[in-house]
Amino acid sequence: MSNARNISNIALIGFMGTGKSSVGHLLAEQLRFGFVDTDELIVNAAGKSIADIFAQQGEAVFRALEHEIIKGLASRTRSVISTGGGVPVNPDNLASLKSHSLVVCLWASPEKIWENVRGQSHRPLLLNTPDPLAKIRELLAARAPFYKQADVLVNTEWRSVREVAQQVAHQFQSARATQK
Ligand code: S3P
Repeated sequence: MSNARNISNIALIGFMGTGKSSVGHLLAEQLRFGFVDTDELIVNAAGKSIADIFAQQGEAVFRALEHEIIKGLASRTRSVISTGGGVPVNPDNLASLKSHSLVVCLWASPEKIWENVRGQSHRPLLLNTPDPLAKIRELLAARAPFYKQADVLVNTEWRSVREVAQQVAHQFQSARATQK
């Protein structure tokens, strides 16, 4: 894949529970961009929930579907793309997103992530684990090197959704201005 970039979208990457969906929706509304969520596209394509894909077909099948969905985003413009937490672990996914998007990673501590996701039941990687906080710590540490390859890293821990969206919009506008 060539490294040429044509930044016409914003891709939000980052761990579960860092605010990608809420920030993404607000950003899309403010910029008058379309909004897509890779998990939603996967669910539509597979005709079943993420939890069912993991349970019935396994994580490898989910990751393959996810990769196909990411490749299919290359023709999009004026879109905010919210991605599943494991997307950047596959370097091809990150390279593909970078070809058309400013890639922004939303970041938070394991404790804050746990606070945000506890009580939710749709995330298979955190189900059936005796110590979800330890699992979050472990996964976040393993994924940190991938998340850090984003163009921009934004700590969402002490910021409102509105503040994060504003910061991301500002970074996007700067990136577009320097690209011209
Ligand atoms: C995953 C995160 C989820 C979803 C799937 C796997 C991950 O998305 O793609 O459960 O590997 O971290 P969110 O980050 O939107 O929760």
